[in-house]
Amino acid sequence: MKTAITEMFGIEHPIIQGGMHYVGFAELAAAVSNAGGLGIITGLTQKTPELLAREIARCHDLTDKPFGVNLTFLPTFSAPPYPEYIAAIREGGIKIVETAGRSPEQYMPALKAGGIKVIHKCTSVRHSLKAEQIGCDAVSVDGFECGGHPGEDDMPNMILLPRAAEELKIPFVASGGMADARSLVAALALGAAGMNMGTRFIATKEAPVHDNVKQALVAATELDTRLVMRALRNTERVLKNKGVDRLIEIEREKGAKLQIADIHGEVAGVYPKVMIDGDMDAGAWSCGMVVGLIKDIPTVKELIDRIMADAERIILDRLAGFVGAEGKAALRVA
Ligand SMILES: Cc1cc2nc3c(=O)[nH]c(=O)nc-3n(C[C@H](O)[C@H](O)[C@H](O)COP(=O)(O)O)c2cc1C
Repeated sequence: MKTAITEMFGIEHPIIQGGMHYVGFAELAAAVSNAGGLGIITGLTQKTPELLAREIARCHDLTDKPFGVNLTFLPTFSAPPYPEYIAAIREGGIKIVETAGRSPEQYMPALKAGGIKVIHKCTSVRHSLKAEQIGCDAVSVDGFECGGHPGEDDMPNMILLPRAAEELKIPFVASGGMADARSLVAALALGAAGMNMGTRFIATKEAPVHDNVKQALVAATELDTRLVMRALRNTERVLKNKGVDRLIEIEREKGAKLQIADIHGEVAGVYPKVMIDGDMDAGAWSCGMVVGLIKDIPTVKELIDRIMADAERIILDRLAGFVGAEGKAALRVA
């Protein structure tokens, strides 16, 4: 399947694995790229630029296909040395960077000087347009359903994607709530040139996280995510657990007066406890509503092959069927 995104990034299938803290290690990024998608290493999970350089080198050992690095600009307890991370990315021969959080404007000259294509992930039409204006090559349009930070507009993808299609000149992928061939075909119909998946890729054999995490995703339903940190204007969609229940209780008590320090125990340092130790009640970790569509733990290749084969069937059989025999014949010929 050829789209503006497969052409831009030199990949076989229009499927991107979004950066994920303590999940986007070389093993997963390489598995996605080897399966024909675009794998992405999460830059800031590597505590120093030197460690990121090593992770990039490890990924080069695991795949000769294109892969990218995610750089997230979010409020953190201590600001990371972004210029040094970008230097590691450039020296590692990376040609694709997924930015997220705040606008990457300040870092665009350094990224572009390295011949890097930038795909910015954002949650609104206005931020997408800003990304286009500052020279981003593509956008990952992240709807309200998404795992992680959906922003403060609460705009689901059924509205957000067609609105993005109306306004943007650069290509975009649909992000948030994407799990299977139905998601991909719907995203294409709404104007996207592919899809970005986060949560779904955690429930794969290659995702280098504790088995408890994968089992929790298979067991959870679409009703099991919660929004936290709204009062801080740093809303995050997370999987409900005992730590999240505690967090929500504190949020209720503090109301609009909530400070980040009040919930430090439930949000800081949680990822290694969950992803490495498998402590599922440690606190808040990102998870999308799409968890309700996750029923198995395939290999990444099985997942991507299944998506592409089913997408072809949906387009050629189900959708073409709606336009009659003539439409179907025309599609098969094309
Ligand atoms: C466990 C987890 C950690 C994530 N960490 C990051 C991150 O560090 N940076 C980032 O830009 N996005 C992060 N995301 C968001 C994903 O890249 C992706 O945009 C999102 O998961 C898409 O929604 P979906 O989960 O419905 O597929 C994370 C998502 C999950 C589930």
